[in-house]
This record gives sequence, C-alpha cells and structure tokens, in this order.
Amino acid sequence: MYGLGKNKRAAICHGPNCSARGSASLAALLDEEIAAQGLDDEVGTRPGACNKLCEEGPSMVVHPDKVWYSRLTPEAVREIVRQHLAGGEPVARWLARDLRPAEEKPGRKLTGSVGRES
Ligand code: FES
Repeated sequence: MYGLGKNKRAAICHGPNCSARGSASLAALLDEEIAAQGLDDEVGTRPGACNKLCEEGPSMVVHPDKVWYSRLTPEAVREIVRQHLAGGEPVARWLARDLRPAEEKPGRKLTGSVGRES
C-alpha cells in the first residue's frame, strides 16, 4: 500500500511506454524485494503515472526523496531496494538523466537583459 505514514514511497511508471517495457513485472519484483528486506511497514508502492522519461523507461520515482530512476531492470530494482529504500543511499548508476531542456532546469542563469536591472 502506498499510503501516508510510510517513510518512503516508490512508484514505477505504468504509462504506455514503460508498460510496454515491462513495468508491471518490475513493480511485482519491487514489492517482492521490499517484503524480502522487511520494509513493508517503511516503504509504500503504487503504479505510477508517466514521469516524462518515456525514452528511458521503465522509470520510477522515490518520494519524499524526489529521486527519479530510469532504464530499470530486475537488477536495478533489487539494487535500489537494498541501497536506497533500505539503506537510504540513492543508486547513482540508475538515476534518470534530466531530459528537460537546459532553459527549464533549476538553477538556470539568466542572461542578456532578462532579470537585470538597468
Ligand atoms: S510512459 Fe513511463 S515515463 Fe512516460
């Protein structure tokens, strides 16, 4: 169950692109691994909506950490459960690349006359 009261919540995308790449079986594996690690009371799961990482699916988001993973495989799911969901350390090699255009990314530097005082 995804509910509030869980320390972490993980949602594997079940949008059309990720579903075509096996997100349902990865979600089942996620639940199995969470149970195997004894994290049922700590981590909630649910089918997720599109994370706009369709080209790199299957994708998953972990809250409240706001960490997005992509190119998920069974190996990735097992590693993420053990290192991130159990251990608290995101798994760098499975992190999603930020596919947003540079001008939409946080921390963008304003250039030219935009944002400058005259
Ligand atoms: S369909 Fe999964 S990220 Fe878009």
